[in-house]
Amino acid sequence: MTLDLGVLISGRGSNLQAVLDAIAARRLDARVRVVVSNRPGAQGFERAAAAGVPTRVVDHKSYADRAAFERALIAELRAAGVEWVVLAGFMRILTAELLGAFPARVVNIHPSLLPAFPGVDAQAQALAYGVRVTGCTVHLVDEGVDCGPILAQATLPVRADDTRETLAERLLDREHQLLVGALQWIAEGRVTVEPAAPGARARVVVRGVDPLL
Ligand code: GRF
Repeated sequence: MTLDLGVLISGRGSNLQAVLDAIAARRLDARVRVVVSNRPGAQGFERAAAAGVPTRVVDHKSYADRAAFERALIAELRAAGVEWVVLAGFMRILTAELLGAFPARVVNIHPSLLPAFPGVDAQAQALAYGVRVTGCTVHLVDEGVDCGPILAQATLPVRADDTRETLAERLLDREHQLLVGALQWIAEGRVTVEPAAPGARARVVVRGVDPLL
């Protein structure tokens, strides 16, 4: 099944680039229907344009509240024929408004082994804590911050001389591989969600591959 993706970004867009490259190389069975940023002038827009992908700005500052902002996002995503939404460095927390429009079809890439180090600057949090191994996580998005059901994870050893920058740079390579890999598993129909039993978390089941990269 070819996935119809909408990618939400706020800045650099290197994860978006990884998705576009994988599609061009036929390693990912998907089309990016639209790239939407909440920040005008996001660097990722140039990457989208170079790949011939339409871009839209939905600036959160132009809307009275989160619900109105998300309704505008939904309208752009639907108009473009999007079925799965990818948060690739999108720096806004989403609410039930958007999540309800794409139920269990919003994925995020986060630069830590969740549930460790959610939120901003996960790489610096990992260094400050002194962990020996960190990594990245692709998960389905729910209304919490970086806490939806985990789809895939990849690990990365922390070096004694790592700085936030060196760690973030090595991690970014892992992120790019993991995000593309996880999306391809979705395209191959390997991914299903087991709803939460009372008192338990919903879980993502990935069939036929090892979801630890
Ligand atoms: C990545 O580290 C991603 O995990 C985090 O924000 C960063 C975005 O980088 N959520 P880019 O815009 O994809 O280059």
